[in-house]
Amino acid sequence: MEKEKVILTGDRPTGKLHIGHYVGSLRRRVELQNSGLYKKIFVFEADAQALTDNIDNPEKVRQNVIEVALDYLAAGLDPQKSTIFIQSQIPELCELSFYYMDLVTVSRLQRNPTVKTEIQLRNFETSIPVGFFTYPISQAADITAFKATTVPVGEDQEPMLEQAREIVRRFNYIYGETLVEPEILLPDNAACLRLPGTDGKAKMSKSLGNCIYLSDSADEVEKKVRSMFTDPTHLRVSDPGKLEGNCVFTYLDAFCKEEHFGRYWTDYANLDELKAHYTRGGLGDMKVKKFLAAILQEELTPIRERRKEFEKDIPAVYEMLKKGCEAARETAAQTLDEVRRAMKINYFDDEALIAEQAKRFSN
Ligand code: TRP
Repeated sequence: MEKEKVILTGDRPTGKLHIGHYVGSLRRRVELQNSGLYKKIFVFEADAQALTDNIDNPEKVRQNVIEVALDYLAAGLDPQKSTIFIQSQIPELCELSFYYMDLVTVSRLQRNPTVKTEIQLRNFETSIPVGFFTYPISQAADITAFKATTVPVGEDQEPMLEQAREIVRRFNYIYGETLVEPEILLPDNAACLRLPGTDGKAKMSKSLGNCIYLSDSADEVEKKVRSMFTDPTHLRVSDPGKLEGNCVFTYLDAFCKEEHFGRYWTDYANLDELKAHYTRGGLGDMKVKKFLAAILQEELTPIRERRKEFEKDIPAVYEMLKKGCEAARETAAQTLDEVRRAMKINYFDDEALIAEQAKRFSN
């Protein structure tokens, strides 16, 4: 059977990637890449999108492009199997966005829940940059330029995908079947949808200093796990402990597999047994944290070591990105050709048009 599905996804290069990115999307991408079930896989750094709310801080984006590329490679994305590229290097995306802008109303953008919360978060209020406001349109261009069928992202991107689907439907309705409607692919494990910060806050964020980065040293991981937020009412070992809001257990939900008990904690057969003991009382936080640290080290050590290897040849990483950009551009240019044809703005490669007009003016 011919493979038909195309994956596309990306990240804003505004910081190094942390384990929230990893369980939310990156780990899955690597699995999908290695499954061999997809015709093509595109992974990109949305640097132009990152600039929509960092316009006065281009250096931050520039520095993080290489960090994120290293994180990608370290996590197991393989340029032989996936096209890794940088958004700003694909000018076709701007042109697509420009046409899509005619298909979206201002009020529809205002209703986009992600845009709404982000505007509040950034205190833009009445001074919203137009580029920021319209980034859902540019994101639709990112997705459709590569005819992506499948977009593995976090839950917060759902409104973006919905908006992209609307644009596709409207475009195809007006101009004829041209674009492909994408589907979101969410993590199947609830704990992975939004991994909380180590302080128990809803989200890992660089500014809150509550992240475990893929590039953290073994010592840093150890230290961060030791100081993690648990259940503040679990004062003595004998006290019953709560799982809800206890991020040590949320992380275990995201990372722990049954085989880990055989390797690191033979007192329990599985996570349910461990949780039952904790809830009952008689189990101290430190022991659970030690177990979590062992699991995280097992997962993160190979990533950290691969990163160190790639760091030894930075020019090669840029070269890999450059090649990725070239390949991505070819695909985007192909789609843009089809879009121009559908929109009837392909004046010079349409011989029928020229002949027809010649005839019209000849009598
Ligand atoms: N908005 C995404 C984020 O903040 C990044 C992104 C830009 C993206 N364009 C995309 C993700 C297209 C998936 C598909 O993480």
